This record gives sequence, C-alpha cells and structure tokens, in this order.
Amino acid sequence: MSAESILTALLPDTAEVLDDDVLIGGVSLRHLAARYGTPLFVYDEVTLRARCAEAVAAFDDGVAFASKSFLCGEMARLAHDEGLCIDVATGGELDLVLRAGVPASRVIVHGNNKLPSELEHALEVGVHRIVVDNFDEIARLATLVSPEQPLDCLIRVTPGVEAHTHEFVRTGQEDTKFGFSLVSGDARRAIDELRAMAHVTLHGVHAHIGSQIFEMAGFEEEVKILVDFIAGEGFDELCVGGGLGVAYVAGESSKSLTQWGEAVRVATRAAGLDVAVRVTAEPGRAIVAQAGVTLYTVGAVKPVTQRTYMAVDGGMSDNPRPVLYGSGYEAFDVATPRAARTRSVRLVGRHCESGDVLIDTAWLPATTAVGSLIVTPVTGAYGYSMASNYNRVPRPAVIFVGGGAARLVLRRETFDDLARLEA
Ligand code: LLP
Repeated sequence: MSAESILTALLPDTAEVLDDDVLIGGVSLRHLAARYGTPLFVYDEVTLRARCAEAVAAFDDGVAFASKSFLCGEMARLAHDEGLCIDVATGGELDLVLRAGVPASRVIVHGNNKLPSELEHALEVGVHRIVVDNFDEIARLATLVSPEQPLDCLIRVTPGVEAHTHEFVRTGQEDTKFGFSLVSGDARRAIDELRAMAHVTLHGVHAHIGSQIFEMAGFEEEVKILVDFIAGEGFDELCVGGGLGVAYVAGESSKSLTQWGEAVRVATRAAGLDVAVRVTAEPGRAIVAQAGVTLYTVGAVKPVTQRTYMAVDGGMSDNPRPVLYGSGYEAFDVATPRAARTRSVRLVGRHCESGDVLIDTAWLPATTAVGSLIVTPVTGAYGYSMASNYNRVPRPAVIFVGGGAARLVLRRETFDDLARLEA
C-alpha cells in the first residue's frame, strides 16, 4: 500500500492529500501548525457530525456519546445538536457538559463509585438516566430520591462476555469492578431492591463488554444474554454500551457505526426482544477517533547503533495510549505526504522517561528531518482526554476545522495555567 492510500484511509472524511501538504476541512495542516503551533490536535467537524448522525440513525433515542473519549464544550454541544445524549462518568464530566448548555435531560451518569455529591447533583438537575452500578449506590440513592427528585435509571450488569479485539470468550464468572453480576444473582436482587423503592423508575439494563472491539460476535453474545435476562420484566430500554473498534494502522479495518447498529438489531430480533424496547448504545472512540489528528514538529534526530530516534515536541503527555496499551499509530510527513516511507525511526516524545515512545517503529520518508511537521492520524479518542501535565508540559491546543475555516476550541495551556493551583 502506498503512503498516500494508508494516509487517506486513516485521515478524517474531508482530508485531501496534496504533494506538499494535507488539507482537513479545507484547511492546510501546514498553515494550522504555523498559526497555532505544535503539538496541536485538529478535529474535522464534518467527520464528527457524520459519526454522531450515524450513531443516532443506528440506534434508538437515548443513544449517547461517551464523553470520556474526548470532551470539551464544543464537542458536547456538537453531539447534543446531532441528537445524541451525553454519557458522563464523573462529576467533572457532568459539570462540563451542563456548563456547555446541554440539558440535564440528555445526560446519562455512569460510575462505579459515584460520590454522594455527584448523585445529589445528578438528581437535583434531573439527568436522563443514572446507570446504577452497585448496592452501596442503591443505599445512597435511597436517601436522596424524593417526589421532587425522582430517579430514572438503568442497572449495569456484567453479562460474562469478555470481548477482545479479535475474539471473545464467555466467562463463567465475572471478575470486574463494574456492574452487577448476572450469574451470582446480584443483578436480580438489584432489580428487586430498586423496584421496591418509591420514586424510582427502572427502565432496563446496561452492559459494556469492552473497548476497541472489531468483531461483532461479542456484541451478539451480549445481546442474547441481556435479552434472555430481561424476558418478562417489562423494561423499556436495553443499552449495549460502547466499544466499537476503529482502525489505527495500515491494514486494519473496522465496522462502521451503521454496521454495528445492524448487527445489534439482528441480534435483538433473533433473541426475541420486544420491538417496543429501546435499543441504545454509548460509542466514544467510533465517534471521535478518526475525526482527530495530532501535529508535531521534529526537534531532534539521533542515530544510535540499533536504530534512529526521532523526537517530537509532544509525547506521552498528549498521547499516553502507546505507553499504557502498546497501541500502534502511523506517522506521516505533512510536507511530503505522498513520498514513500522508506526509513524506520522510533518516534519519541520529549518527556524525561525512556518509555516515552509514540511509535516504536514509525516509517517516514528519508527526507524527514529536524523542523519537519509530522501528523499522526486517528488520535481523536482518549488522547486529549487522557492528556497530562507530566514534566509540567502544557496541554496542546485543540482546533476544529470545517468549510475552509479553523477555530480554536481549547487554547494551549500556559505556564500560568499550570502555576494557578499553587496555594
Ligand atoms: N460506555 C462505558 C460504560 C464505558 O466504560 C466506555 C469506555 C464507553 C461507553 C465508550 O467506549 P468506546 O466506544 O470509546 O470504546 N482509555 C482506553 C479506553 C477506555 C474505555 C473505557 N470505557 C483507550 O484509550 O483505549
């Protein structure tokens, strides 16, 4: 595969690969780097909206964007505009989403240890759903619900399906901090407890079998187990969680949100789910990953006996995924995006740590050198949202592009920002 075809497959929908530049949303990456500096996150608004719309079409109302994958005010508003609910996993995510102007009635609250203050806030503002995780939470909720603050909830259950990227195994017993176990009878008991409480409406069940899943079989198995479990309960919602995988590197291919929704539909029908039951989901990565890229500038090239190290001006603070999960990425030289990538280098960051590797073996043109602008595609999910200030490195700016224009949605952090917490 040529560099150009790999690049085109991984870039956002509107990308155009030229001889000496790459355009996204009609905007030159070289111009963006010159104007906003690097490292820089660039998101294509058309791709973000298209993926949101696809999710809305693929599932029933209540389908949510998993905001942990990438959250800022603009993103929350965009997902809401497109008809998605927003899934939050902490009080911090809830606060940001409400500040952004998303109505509480479109927010779904998750968490395996929701703080009393978070539950109180969620009930006070009247969120769409709280996804109840454990018995301690039920006890806490019992002291907080009232006629003025009723609870609309799902229970999170562990269906015993453990999904991996290319396989799934059915586990007899679940070993996870999330949700109520089906096999132990905990899920059954949780339903009974919630049903015995006043001012509580239990709408149905929720499960999430994992993340970056390519095969539909795990989801199909999950659906069958959930549908069997809720038979005769009279629930009105079943949420299959998130987890749809995306392609990060050459040769990978993933299912679309539409295909995922179809697979889930077929499975719910085959399992005999009442058509009146809403089937929802919570994709994160599949909405934002491919919409985003990161731009870096090369600052040092160091050949050693075994290989060449190429250091860029970011690293594990803006993309911890390679270090945490061994995740793979591709790199391209923005000024020569069609050139054959004939030289392998280890693409590293600028952190004071040997493990600060972005791409273990990155292929780049032989001409890539100090000063070159590098783009790593498919960095829209779990990059900015998991970014840190390790070594007191300020977080990059985030730009949305579309229709030939760029707008700053998160400014670059400054040293003053970092210093403002000093007591
Ligand atoms: N719903 C629940 C309850 C979840 O726990 C998650 C992700 C999602 C939805 C969204 O999953 P997605 O569609 O994005 O796969 N930091 C890791 C991923 C952690 C996912 C945690 N939960 C990574 O960078 O790969």
